[in-house]
Amino acid sequence: MTLKINDTKEQVAKEFSEYFRELSSGDQTIHVALSGGSTPKTVFDYLAAHYGNEIDWSRIKFYWGDERCVAPTDDESNYKMTVDHLLSKIEMPSFNIFRVLGENDPKGEAERYSQVLDTELPKENDIPQFDLVMLGMGEDGHTVSIFPDSISLWDAEENCVVATHPDSGQKRVTITGKIVNNAKAVAFLVTGANKAEKVREILKKEHDFASYPAHLVQPSHGELIWFLDQDAARDIDPVS
Ligand code: 6PG
Repeated sequence: MTLKINDTKEQVAKEFSEYFRELSSGDQTIHVALSGGSTPKTVFDYLAAHYGNEIDWSRIKFYWGDERCVAPTDDESNYKMTVDHLLSKIEMPSFNIFRVLGENDPKGEAERYSQVLDTELPKENDIPQFDLVMLGMGEDGHTVSIFPDSISLWDAEENCVVATHPDSGQKRVTITGKIVNNAKAVAFLVTGANKAEKVREILKKEHDFASYPAHLVQPSHGELIWFLDQDAARDIDPVS
């Protein structure tokens, strides 16, 4: 596990973008699961602005680690956020974009997207394998859309399941732990002082760390990198 700590979230975006450009500099197609929420906005803006013309987007296929069950035009949609901050600014073939159809029935879409992963991704251990899974972490320690109150979804047999946001009741389609932990690389992007307590508890295995889904991100063979800003990392001593 690697910690990459930068002073500001813009510098986190810069470091992650450099990492992403390196990852995508080969001649193979790479399959990437994107994270949602608000943290990726700064990252996607930076990536588009500084590497939009440098990266051959035709060799990258985008998927989502989770999606809200809303229309793709809804401000809650992770797809819409990605269009606004990245896809609208780069030349990526539409057939490289595998959107979760948030407007569909959640259960049926989780089944359909599970099939998409089975069909589109190479397999490792007979499980679909991403080259990179980008993750965020909520203040409650959730990741993708697996929340502490339904942490057992992490161990589901399926590639994707339906989850429910504990406060809003919003339905989500999310990939599960078997997919996340089978990836060649997993990158957490976590910024802001409001995440510092959970970052410390998870990285130092303190307090209720075992009850946080983000703690269960332990790729079996792949690399795990935490991209943090100083605010999110303020309670950890990176040299310890
Ligand atoms: C989502 C995300 C979710 C997100 C965390 C952090 O759909 O909301 O996938 O897991 O990464 O909630 O969100 P912020 O980046 O907005 O803090």
